[in-house]
Amino acid sequence: MNNLEIKQVQDLDELALNNLADKRDEWLKSANEIDLTKKTEIETYANYLMPEYINVVVKRILSESSEYNTLVLRSEDGSPLPFFKAGQSSAVTISIDGNKMTRSYPLSSNPEETKDGEWRITIKNNEEDYVSFYLFNNLKIGEKFQMSAPFGDFYYNPLRDAKNIISVCIDNGIIPIYSMVQAICNNVEDFNLTIFYLAKKENEFIFKEEINEYASKSNKIKINYILGDYNDSESNLINKINEAYINSETSIFISGNEQLLDFLNKRLSDLNLPKKYIRYYSFIPSNKVKKVSKYTLTIHINDEKYEIPCYNNKTIMQALEDSSIYIPSKCQVGICGLCRSELVFGEVRIVNDKRSKADKRYNYIHPCSTYPLSDIELIVR
Ligand code: FES
Repeated sequence: MNNLEIKQVQDLDELALNNLADKRDEWLKSANEIDLTKKTEIETYANYLMPEYINVVVKRILSESSEYNTLVLRSEDGSPLPFFKAGQSSAVTISIDGNKMTRSYPLSSNPEETKDGEWRITIKNNEEDYVSFYLFNNLKIGEKFQMSAPFGDFYYNPLRDAKNIISVCIDNGIIPIYSMVQAICNNVEDFNLTIFYLAKKENEFIFKEEINEYASKSNKIKINYILGDYNDSESNLINKINEAYINSETSIFISGNEQLLDFLNKRLSDLNLPKKYIRYYSFIPSNKVKKVSKYTLTIHINDEKYEIPCYNNKTIMQALEDSSIYIPSKCQVGICGLCRSELVFGEVRIVNDKRSKADKRYNYIHPCSTYPLSDIELIVR
C-alpha cells in the first residue's frame, strides 16, 4: 500500500488525454464489423428455451371443485415450454370481447411435466375478477392465449432459504404450494415442507386428496388443515406455527391475501427471522372501502391523453381495463415494475408497497397495486 503512487489530476499527461478521442476513432475504424443486432447462437438457444412470451393452447380443462378449474396447456407450435421453479407464476394475456387483459397465475403443476410439454394453471371462479371469471366459465378446449416466461421469487432457493419451510396459506394460496409438494415428491426439489392450510369451510380445501396422498409417501411433507376464521383461532394457529418452528434455520412462506400477510407479519415479528427467510405470494390486492367514491383519472400514454373514471375500490389498472386501455403488465401485485408510471398529482393508496427508494422519491407508482383516493394524473413511461 505504501508503494502506491496516487497522482494528482494536474500531474496526468494532458496531451495523452486530449489524444484519446482521436485514438478511440482509430481503434473503432480498425475493428472488425459486427452486426450487434444479430443474435449469437447461444442467445438464440437461450431464447428458444426461455422465450419471453409463449403462445399456448388449452388441451384439457379439469374440474377440481365447484370453484376451481385446472387448465392443461401446451405451446401452440409444439416448441418446449420454459422450465420453472415450483411456486413461480406466469402471466396470461388474453383478448376478451376485443379487450386485451393480463393476469398472473401460479403454475400448479409439477415442474417435471414441463419436459412432456405441459403446464397447468388453476383458476378460481372469481366474479370480482373479469379475467378469472372468463377463464373459469367461458374458456373452451382449443382456445389460445399468450403466457409469459415463469417469474417470481416465491420458490425454494437453497442459497437463500432455510431447508425447513413452514408455509401458511389460505384460499388459492395453496396453488403454488401444491406445485412444491409435487416437486418434493418427484425429487425435483429437496426441502422439508410443513403446511398450514386455512379455510373457512371444509369444501374450500382444494387438492386435499392429492396433497394427503403425497404427504403419505414423503416424510418431507407435513400438512395441517385449519378450519374456521384464523382471526378467531389466533392463538391456535400461532401456537401450531410455533410448535412446527424448529429453529432460526426455518423459512416462512406465506401465500394468500393481504389480510393473512398483515395478520402474520404482526405476530411473526417475535421470531426475529432474517428478512430473506420470509417469502410472500399474494393475489391481486384488495381495497375494502366503506363508501365507493368516483374520481377522474387523466392518463398520458404514447403522446395520447385520456380522461376516464376511476374508483377507490378498484386499482388504477382495473380502471384502465374497464375503459379498454391496455398497458403492459405481468405480476399484477406491484413487484415486477412492468406497469411503472409517474404520478403527476393526486392521492393514492399503495397496497403492499414494494417500490424502490428512487421510485418513492420521484413519485413513480405501480397502477396494478395502487388505488386512487382523489382525481389523479398519470404518465405511463
Ligand atoms: S404488473 Fe408488475 S408491477 Fe404492475
